[in-house]
Amino acid sequence: MCGIIGYSGILDAKDVLLDGLTSLEYRGYDSCGICIFDENNKFHIIKNIGKVESLRPLVNKEFPPTLSSHSGMGHTRWATHGGVSSENAHPHKAGKVFLIHNGIIENYSELKSQYKLDNKLQSETDTEIVAYVLDYLYNKQNFDPLKSIRELTQLIVGTYSFLICFEDKPGSIYAVRKVSPLVCATSLSGSFLASDLTALIPYTKTFSVVDENTIIEINPTGIISYDLNTLQKTELKQETITWDIDSAKKGGFEHFMMKEIHEQPTAIDNTIRPRITNDGLINFFDDGIEDNSIFKNINKIQIVACGTALHAGTVGARLFQSKILIPIETYIASEYRYQNTLVDDKTLVIIISQSGETVDSLSSLKKAKAENAKTISIVNVKGSSIARESDCVLYTHAGPEIAVASTKAYTVQVALIYLLFCHIAFVRDRVDESFVKKFTKNLYDTIPILQNLLQNKNQIKQVAKYISKSNDAFYIGRSLDYVFSLEGALKLKEVSYIHTEAYAAGELKHGTIALIEDGTPVICVCTQKDVSKKFLSNVEEVKARNAFVILIITEGIEYNKSISDICITIPKINDDFSVFPVAVITQLIAYYVAYAKKLDIDKPRNLAKSVTVE
Ligand code: AGP
Repeated sequence: MCGIIGYSGILDAKDVLLDGLTSLEYRGYDSCGICIFDENNKFHIIKNIGKVESLRPLVNKEFPPTLSSHSGMGHTRWATHGGVSSENAHPHKAGKVFLIHNGIIENYSELKSQYKLDNKLQSETDTEIVAYVLDYLYNKQNFDPLKSIRELTQLIVGTYSFLICFEDKPGSIYAVRKVSPLVCATSLSGSFLASDLTALIPYTKTFSVVDENTIIEINPTGIISYDLNTLQKTELKQETITWDIDSAKKGGFEHFMMKEIHEQPTAIDNTIRPRITNDGLINFFDDGIEDNSIFKNINKIQIVACGTALHAGTVGARLFQSKILIPIETYIASEYRYQNTLVDDKTLVIIISQSGETVDSLSSLKKAKAENAKTISIVNVKGSSIARESDCVLYTHAGPEIAVASTKAYTVQVALIYLLFCHIAFVRDRVDESFVKKFTKNLYDTIPILQNLLQNKNQIKQVAKYISKSNDAFYIGRSLDYVFSLEGALKLKEVSYIHTEAYAAGELKHGTIALIEDGTPVICVCTQKDVSKKFLSNVEEVKARNAFVILIITEGIEYNKSISDICITIPKINDDFSVFPVAVITQLIAYYVAYAKKLDIDKPRNLAKSVTVE
């Protein structure tokens, strides 16, 4: 999952590329590089370990104000083949070819031996091998970019978004993709290629998704799309960018993560309102689902996702299986791909993905479709691969989520899966209209609860201060609270680097409680009244071993005050909707722990926002 950008037009290319890479940096940020043509059509490659801010001074040194540039391409890397080094940073040059790549080439070693590249390579990357192969084909095809790119795609196996420049074709940038995401746009400012919309927002309101069966060329006159096989010109389908430039900025917050935590009330409202009628019932007409037969002719539901998206789906599955009364199974996408999950034409497979580009989730979707499942995706990014591939797509309306740690995407995913499952229960006559009306009202009522929570963060800061000094932490809960704990633990570990485990409270005594030592922070989530007594006795067990107990509990649940060192009380709320305030509290805990540790909250080490490699 890397960030890539290409530009050709009237603006200063180095600024467009560096600004674009900065906005794409959340996709990968261990090294970066650009290659640009100067006004004398000379190429310059500048690359560096670290973030884009470290590249800027190098570019400005190579490109004094006296030297202008109007086309080039850039890359910000999340290392796959080859470690983090400037040699492995992109772009890679081979002969007349300059190449940038997002993805993984599976047959790179066969190509390396087939084209006898052993003594030529400067890097450890699969990308450089492809650059050499393309240069060979370019010469073979008498320096015809389209024919050589077409032949290249017939030789390589894997996933890719390539941006390609040829030394003797200054000003033109070519692109071709398979699975890895790529969008393009043209405006009065010039023509663009990018991994996703965030790099395009400052320049245009319309874009096109680069289709897998096309080659794109951008040059100072605009964009040309060619059919990959016939090399004939084709039309590009225009789409509108619904995000505005401010939504991709920090809006006065110190970090995107905190901004996005605060955007949740609005994001939830924007996501549920278009699907709830004035009389409180639910419909998905605007999502193109008018015939509810897709929900009646099924006998099983499978939810497939990764990370936070999977946690969101698991909340919905746990709550609604007993209401819809058919099995609702949840799967880790990277596991689902290689299992026989007994899919048939009566299976509804729901793929949940904020980015809509997670390759394991996309591959799971394709597998489910091949096995005749009906498929629905819940996606936040318009026009993304998963959105385009599924039978129906339900978009969340959270706006761009830039912080690597997913926050608002999680709560809007839960809200939307809640609406979907409530609707399925209704069309299958498992619940009546009064249930649906009460359910949608409860959903709306969570919004002011979150707004109040966001105004009172001092106790959470106190909790975070304690946890920030620890090496280990635990989240425990029962029933839905256990599922909420899974997400809380993921948030905490991925931004604070503190090893955090989520555990079913009733399971602790079967081994893991051995890890509880004096002062070990244990965050105990207690919002499910029907299991609260049992759960609180589990809290007693960890307290008896001198854990530092942080209790998150709903107002009105009786408990022995002496069992918690710090208690965060959630205002009275229906158990089924406590996921939302618990999410905000656990997100804030993670944020403030990382803040206390002075870490890079929006771009945690080793991570990237969209996992488009397997
Ligand atoms: C969440 O905080 C993580 N960044 C990660 O688990 C993420 O949820 C996962 O990679 C799935 O991404 P997606 O929703 O874009 O498919």
